Amino acid sequence: MKRGTKIALGVVVLLVVMQVVRPARENPAVTGDLVAPPEVKSVLKKACYDCHSNETVWPWYSNVAPVSWLVARDVNDGRKHLNFSVWDSYEPGRKAHKLEEIEGEVSEGEMPMAIYVPLHPEAKLSDAEKKLIVDWAKQR
Ligand code: HEC
Repeated sequence: MKRGTKIALGVVVLLVVMQVVRPARENPAVTGDLVAPPEVKSVLKKACYDCHSNETVWPWYSNVAPVSWLVARDVNDGRKHLNFSVWDSYEPGRKAHKLEEIEGEVSEGEMPMAIYVPLHPEAKLSDAEKKLIVDWAKQR
C-alpha cells in the first residue's frame, strides 16, 4: 500500500472511531424564561438562545465528531454562564450582574461567539440591534 493511501485510511478509521464518543445533546425543561419586550426577545432568540437557553436548535453537524464535541462544549458552557430559560430563578443581584455582562459583551461585539456567526448569518447583529440590546440591558 502506498504511504498516502495508508494515511488516508488512517484518517478515515480515526474519524469513524471518533463517532463513538457522542456528547449528550439535551434540552432540559424551560422553567422560567426571560420576559422582555418582543423586539428584544426576538434578537436574543436568533443570536443567543442556541447557547444561552434550553431551547437549543442542534444543527445536523452537531451529530458529527469532532464538531459535536465543540458544539456541546459551547452550549454547556454558555448555559452555565447565562441561561435565559431559568432567568426567573436568578436572584435580583445576579440578574443585574448578567445584564451588565450582556451590555458589555454585546457592545464590544464579543457575543454572539465569532465561530457561531458564519454558520448562523441571522445572528450577525446590526448596529441597531446591538443598540436595542444594550439599551434594554442598561435598564437594570
Ligand atoms: C455559540 C454559542 C454562543 C452564542 C450564540 C452566544 N454565546 Fe454568550 N457565551 C457562550 C459561552 C461558551 C460563554 C462562556 C465562555 C465565555 O465567556 O466566552 C458565553 C458567555 C457569555 C456571557 C458572559 C457570562 C458570564 O457569566 O461571564 C454573556 C453576558 C453572554 N455570553 C451573552 C451572550 C449574548 C447576549 C448572546 C447573543 C447576542 C450570546 N452570548 C451568544 C456561548 C455563546
